Amino acid sequence: MGKFEVLDHPLIQHKLTIIRDKNCGTREFRQCVNEIAELMAYEVSRDMALEDVEIETPMGKTVQKRLAGKKVVIVPILRAGLGMVDGILELIPAAKVGHIGMYRDEETMKPHEYFVKMPDDLENREMFIVDPMLATGGSAIMAVDALKKRGARSIKFVCLVAAPEGVEALRAAHPDIDIFAAALDEKLNENSYIIPGLGDAGDRLFGTK
Ligand code: PRP
Ligand code: URA
Repeated sequence: MGKFEVLDHPLIQHKLTIIRDKNCGTREFRQCVNEIAELMAYEVSRDMALEDVEIETPMGKTVQKRLAGKKVVIVPILRAGLGMVDGILELIPAAKVGHIGMYRDEETMKPHEYFVKMPDDLENREMFIVDPMLATGGSAIMAVDALKKRGARSIKFVCLVAAPEGVEALRAAHPDIDIFAAALDEKLNENSYIIPGLGDAGDRLFGTK
C-alpha cells in the first residue's frame, strides 16, 4: 500500500491559511500555491535514488552521492495543477512536464479528459501528478489511469487540500501510489466542494468565475 502523508510544516500551514481566506487576491494566491508546492517538493522527493560518484575536491579524491535513476516528470492536471509547476521546478529544474487536461462536469461532478501530452519512456520515469484539490478523487483516479495506460509505474500524487472521501477513493483505485497533501480537510459538501477548502482552485488561480 502506498502512503498517505500530510506535510504540515509550519510554513506550509501558514501559506495555506493565506490562500484559504476569501479575500486573498489572484496574485497572492498564485504566489503562495507555488511556494507551498516548492516546500512540498522537498519532502515528496525525499526517497529519490542516489548513486556513488568519484569526484576530486581541491583537497583530493572522494566518493560522494548524486541523484541516480528515474528522471522526474511533473504532471499538472489542468487547469489548477499548473499553479504548482513552477514551484516544483525551482527545486527540480531538470524535470520534464507532461499535461493532463481534465474538467469536472458541473452536473455530474464526473471528470472529463480533454488533453494528454507526455514525454516518452514513462516506464523509466518518476511521475509527480499535481493538483491543488483532491475532492471526490475522480480527476486524480482518471489521471493515474491515463499515466498507467502509457506505461508509468512510479507515480506520486501531490495536492494542497484533500477531502477524506477523495483520499479513500484514490487509495482504493490505485493502492500502489503515494499521496501527499498539505491538509486533510473535513468533508465534501453536497456539490462535491471541499469544506472548509479554498473554493474553486482554478478560478482563484486564474481570476475566472
Ligand atoms: C478541480 C480541481 C481538480 C478537481 C478535483 O478542477 O483542480 O482537478 O476539480 O475534483 P475531484 O477530486 O472531485 O475530481 P476543475 O474540474 O474545477 O477544473 P479546473 O482546474 O479547470 O478549474
Ligand atoms: N475543485 C476545486 O477547485 N475545489 C473544490 O473544493 C473541489 C473541487
